[in-house]
Amino acid sequence: MTKYIVEGGNPLYGELHISGAKNAAVAIIPAALMVSGSCRIENIPQISDVKLLLGILQDLGAKVRFINPHAVEIDCSRLQNRRVPYESARRCRASYYMLGALLGRFGSADVALPGGCDFGGTRPIDQHLKGFRALGASVDTQSGFVIAEAAGGRLKASSIFLDKVSVGATINIMLAATLAEGLTVIENVAKEPHIVDVANFLNSMGANIMGAGTDVIKIRGVEHLRGGSYSIIPDQIEAGTYMAAVAACGGQVKICNIIPKHMDCITAKLSEMGVEIQEIDDSLLVSRDGSLVRSNIKAIPYPGFPTDMQPQMAAVLCLAQGTSIITDSVWSSRFRYTDEFKRMGAQIQVDGNLAIIEGVERLTGAQLEACDLRAGAAMLIAALAAHGISEITNVQYIERGYEDVIGKLRSIGGRIKSVEVPEEEPVAVSSAG
Ligand code: UD1
Repeated sequence: MTKYIVEGGNPLYGELHISGAKNAAVAIIPAALMVSGSCRIENIPQISDVKLLLGILQDLGAKVRFINPHAVEIDCSRLQNRRVPYESARRCRASYYMLGALLGRFGSADVALPGGCDFGGTRPIDQHLKGFRALGASVDTQSGFVIAEAAGGRLKASSIFLDKVSVGATINIMLAATLAEGLTVIENVAKEPHIVDVANFLNSMGANIMGAGTDVIKIRGVEHLRGGSYSIIPDQIEAGTYMAAVAACGGQVKICNIIPKHMDCITAKLSEMGVEIQEIDDSLLVSRDGSLVRSNIKAIPYPGFPTDMQPQMAAVLCLAQGTSIITDSVWSSRFRYTDEFKRMGAQIQVDGNLAIIEGVERLTGAQLEACDLRAGAAMLIAALAAHGISEITNVQYIERGYEDVIGKLRSIGGRIKSVEVPEEEPVAVSSAG
C-alpha cells in the first residue's frame, strides 16, 4: 500500500507544467478503436486510468506502442473481440465509452457496467442508453453487462434531446453516431473543453462533427475513420488543482502549458478570494501573500464552475475569512471528504448538496483517507497548507488522474513523499460493540 506523508505549512514557489487532460484522454483512447488504420495520440497523461484503458484496447486485439512516455500509437485495424469484462470495466468509469465506440464501429458491444469514483450517490447511464436506442440499437442490461446491437449491423442517424446535461452521454452518443448512417442531431449537450477535444480528434481522423462546444452537436455519419495524429489539450482540472494549492499555501507559481480561456471560471473565483492571477501567453502566474476572502461557489456544467474543482476549492475556503457556501448542482452528495477536513480543524456543515464553511485561522495535520480522485487532491491541498504532518492513504485514487503529483509538488517546494507500507490487517470488530 502506498501512502503520502506531507509536512504542511510552507508556501509554494516555482514553475509547473500541466499534462494532457485526463477526461479527454479517457474518451479519446476508446475513440481510437473506431479508427480503421493506426493513429498517434500525443500529450497523453501518464496516469493509471490511461494505462487501464490502453490495457482494455489490447485485450480487444489492438496494437499499442509507446513512441515516448507521452505519445502512443494505436492500431485497431484487427480487433477480434467486442466484450469488455467486469474486471477491466469496474476499475475505470470511462470504460463506458467502449460501448459507444464498439457499437459505432461494429454494430455490437458487450461491456460490463463501469466502476470508477463513487461520489456517494448513484451515477446512472440512462441518457447514454437512450441515445443508443434512438440510433436504432437494441440495448439490454444482463448480469452487470450492457449488451447493445444495431439493427442491420449499422446504427442509423436520429434526433436526440438529452434530459440532463451529461458529459458522458454527450461523448458516448457522439462516438456511436460518428459511423452511423445519416445526420444525427444531439440537443442539450455538455460543452466541456474535453468534449470539443474528442470531436476534434474524431474530425482529424475523418469524422464530420459540427457544433461541439455549443448546446447542439450535429454529426454526419461517415463510412470509416482513417488514421492520423492528434495532440490532447492540457488538463483544466489539474491546472486548477495546483492554482488552488498556491491559494491555500501562499507563494507564487507559474502554471505553464495551459489554455487560459479554459481556466476563466476558476481564475475569476480565486481572484475574488484575494489570489493574484496574471495571464502570460499559455501560462498563469498565481500569487498569494495576503489573507483569503470568503466566497460562494456553485458547481454547474461548463462554462460554469466545474464540480471536479469544488473539493479543492473547499480546502482553500476552509482558510478564508468569513462564511462560504458551496453548492454542487451536478452531484447531489459530493461532500464525503468534508469529514476528513473536520479532523484537521475545519468548520464545515453539510446539508444535502450544500456545504457551509466557516473559515479558520489554521488547519492541523491529520491522518486522512482519500475517498475519490478530486477529494484526494483536495486532501493533498489541505495537508500542504496545514500545520504539522499529515498521512494520506488510498492514494491510488489520486494517481488515477494526476501525473507525477509528488514530483510536481516537490518541484515547487511541497514537502511530500510517497512511502510503501504493508497492507493493514483487517480489524476484528466485536459484535457486542
Ligand atoms: C464526467 C467526468 C466527471 C465529472 C462529470 C461532471 C469523466 C470520465 N468524468 O462524469 O469527472 O464530475 O463529468 O462534470 O469525464 N446523469 C444522468 N443520466 C446519465 C448520465 C448522467 O442522470 O445517463 C446525471 C449524473 O447523475 C449527474 C449529471 O448527470 O448528476 C452529470 O453527469 P455526467 O456529466 O454524465 O458525468 P460523467 O460523464 O459520469
